[in-house]
Amino acid sequence: MPQLTWFVTGCSSGIGKSLSAALIARGERVVATARNLQDIAHLQSESVLPLQLDVTSSPETLRMVVDEAINHFGGVDVLVNNAGYLQGSFVEEADTKDYISNFMVNFCGTMNVTRTLIPHFRSKSSGTIIFVGSRAGWQGDMGASPYNATKFALEGILDTLQLETSGFGIRSMIVVLGYFRTELFSTSRLIFTRSHPNKIYDPIETAVLDGVAKVHGHQPGDPDKLAHRIVDVVKGEGMAAGKPFPKRLPFGEDALKDVRQKCEETLKICDEWEEVIKSTNIEGSGI
Ligand SMILES: NC(=O)c1ccc[n+]([C@@H]2O[C@H](COP(=O)([O-])OP(=O)(O)OC[C@H]3O[C@@H](n4cnc5c(N)ncnc54)[C@H](OP(=O)(O)O)[C@@H]3O)[C@@H](O)[C@H]2O)c1
Repeated sequence: MPQLTWFVTGCSSGIGKSLSAALIARGERVVATARNLQDIAHLQSESVLPLQLDVTSSPETLRMVVDEAINHFGGVDVLVNNAGYLQGSFVEEADTKDYISNFMVNFCGTMNVTRTLIPHFRSKSSGTIIFVGSRAGWQGDMGASPYNATKFALEGILDTLQLETSGFGIRSMIVVLGYFRTELFSTSRLIFTRSHPNKIYDPIETAVLDGVAKVHGHQPGDPDKLAHRIVDVVKGEGMAAGKPFPKRLPFGEDALKDVRQKCEETLKICDEWEEVIKSTNIEGSGI
């Protein structure tokens, strides 16, 4: 496949940082965006355009940044909506504001950048949109209600996006990530709130935060390898050569296990309850 131009959000750290490096190494053009330009100052190359972008910015700012990217390289081919953070909370203790703050970045940020790029992709009848999902969008975790919900929401809207835009020549995919060794779980980034505290959850909070501390720095996934696999899939190269472009793709053995388990559990329910499930139609109707 010829050289492509990628627009990546959240390049200061973790997966975005690894993806920018992989794209440069593979001779692609990158619009690397970050909230703080200093965090991507190391990306010095003719094939890189570093731009400041907070994905929660106004539509006018998003338009300006996207237009600058399109004008600089003469177009954008691939959007990777990578920016995100983990907001944890227990369901009983979480407040609307806990959900809104995580949704503003992980979900609305993704949708707003996507919406800004769709007209460009439509005008050239091609483009690829990647959502960065999580195993947390398949299997809920204790104490992670806002984050789980944002990633589950991305799963749902990916299907709608695909139905609405595939006719314009736009491909879309959600990558369902297992645990990758990034800064997502670091104490400086992860936010855990107890807006409506209830003592009953104190010991569970300790267990959850101990679990997070144990995971951080020991995640099995390598973000550099992931970055190259994402490039492979988008370009149909390397390990992805000859395979059809998938709508959703787990990465990491842990993600594979969670996705499989959820599918199997759901199929089992469909089988065990089939008679009951089918018993609610109005007599004589059908779809
Ligand atoms: N690592 C995993 O195990 C894992 C698993 C499943 C899914 N994911 C997803 O992978 C994506 C990348 O996370 P990561 O693991 O690489 O974590 P990370 O190292 O913490 O990187 C997160 C990136 O998102 C950026 N970001 C946060 N809020 C932003 C905003 N409002 N506007 C623009 N950028 C913003 C951060 O920028 P700042 O430096 O400015 O904060 C940083 O560049 C996230 O969507 C995450 O949910 C990760």
